[in-house]
Parts: sequence; structure tokens; C-alpha cells
Amino acid sequence: MPAQPDHQAPVIAFYSAWDGQRTYVNPRTVIKTLRQRRIPPQARILDIGFGNGEIALAVAQAYPQGRIEGMDLTERNVKLAQNKAAQRGVGNITFRMGNAERWRPAAGVYHAVILMQVMQFIAEPDALLQRVFRALRPGGAILFATPFLPPDAALHAFFLDAYARVIPNSFQYRTEDAWYAGLFDAGFERIYTAKAHWEPAAQPPDWQARYRRATAAHGVDYETARRHTWGGLISARKPE
Ligand SMILES: C[S@@+](CC[C@H](N)C(=O)[O-])C[C@H]1O[C@@H](n2cnc3c(N)ncnc32)[C@H](O)[C@@H]1O
Repeated sequence: MPAQPDHQAPVIAFYSAWDGQRTYVNPRTVIKTLRQRRIPPQARILDIGFGNGEIALAVAQAYPQGRIEGMDLTERNVKLAQNKAAQRGVGNITFRMGNAERWRPAAGVYHAVILMQVMQFIAEPDALLQRVFRALRPGGAILFATPFLPPDAALHAFFLDAYARVIPNSFQYRTEDAWYAGLFDAGFERIYTAKAHWEPAAQPPDWQARYRRATAAHGVDYETARRHTWGGLISARKPE
């Protein structure tokens, strides 16, 4: 059996070599959502796919009585994040290597599980939603951020390509409605989205260039694409 499924090899290669500069979601948005979800001060919180660790570290500082755990595919990210925690004197956090696709959690452990810009790498996201549901305590929350496909299916081929170019080796994109259906099927309730228009012109230059190349490749007019470029932070609750 391979060490990991084939689609993960390029993801591991990319996040083993990257400079770790980019934080994909504003940590303040994540903390605000945790508070809206009434995640208590002593919470145990898991960040799956923590990347450069900035979000998990900000959560740990916002929850000084909490216990924060980070799990990511690459050793580079673990070292990067552990060094930051040591340098900043953040003691209520641990980072480890782990693969969300192989993760088999104990039941009822976490008050919150966060996955920021990670779902797009997961081959079977519905199975992962079910595992997160199991891992949560009653009343606990899942938070995940991801770009959405627009409702208009005619634009899906463009967006699948554009998003994969912008976030290399990503492939799993859905409409917001489809994510809601997956959450509902897994047993979650009180599902809502902090929706965000992903303004192409406000993105870093390399992203803009790749996005424009995708519009050209698909013959999609830029203004149409721009108007449909939405993502968001979806959160939902495991019933009490
Ligand atoms: C786009 S980055 C997002 C990083 C961070 N969450 C943020 O928002 O800044 C995706 C991260 O997910 C990790 N990742 C991808 N697939 C994973 C998996 N199956 N298990 C754990 N981590 C994974 C990658 O290694 C990478 O660090």
C-alpha cells in the first residue's frame, strides 16, 4: 500500500517546499466565527491542514485556557509552526503530522474542528465530514473555508480549472448548496456561511495572472467570472 493516496503526492511535495509565507484565511475571521459559535474558553480545538500555523497560533492566543492541536500532511509545516510557537511563547498548542484522509478520530473529543482551505484537497469530503462529526462533542462546531462553484453549471469547468491553478494540486470544489447537503447528511444542524466575494483584482499578482490565463483558456469573459467568484467560511453544529 502506498504511504498516501496518489493525489496527495503533489500536495505533499508542494507544501514540503513552499516558503510558508501565505496565510489563506484571515485568522480574525476564524476567531470571530468560533466566538459566534460559542466555543467555550477551555475548548479543545483541532486545526486540520494548518499550513504555516498562523491561524492555529492566533486561535491559541485568543483561547489562552484552551488546548489547540494542529495536524498537517507535511513535516515542513510542523517544524515551521513549532518554531513559531516556541519563539512566541505560545504553550497551549501542539502540532503534529497527520493525514485527514486516514484520520480515524475518537468520538466526542473536540469543541471545534477547523479546516481552512483544505477541503479542496480531500478525495472523499463527505466521509471526512462524517469523521469530523464523530470527533466533535455534542454542541461542537465544524468550521471550513473553501471557494465555491457558482450555481450556474455552465461555469463549472472554468472554475474547476481556475481554482486548481490558484491553489496548486487542489481539485475538490462544490457549490455552497452541495456543501450544505453533505453537512446535513453527516448530521450537522444550524449551518451557515460567512460568504465572501473573492475579488480577483485584490489577489496577489501570481493568482491574478493564473486566473486570467484560465479565463482565456475557457473563453469566459473576465467580468462574468469575477461576478461569480465566491467562497466563504461555512460553519455548522453537532446537535447537543
Ligand atoms: C491551502 S493550505 C491552507 C493552510 C491554512 N489552513 C491556511 O488557511 O492558511 C492547505 C494545507 O492543507 C494541508 N493538507 C492538505 N491535505 C491534507 C490532508 N489530507 N491532511 C492534512 N493536511 C492536509 C496542506 O499540507 C496545507 O498545509
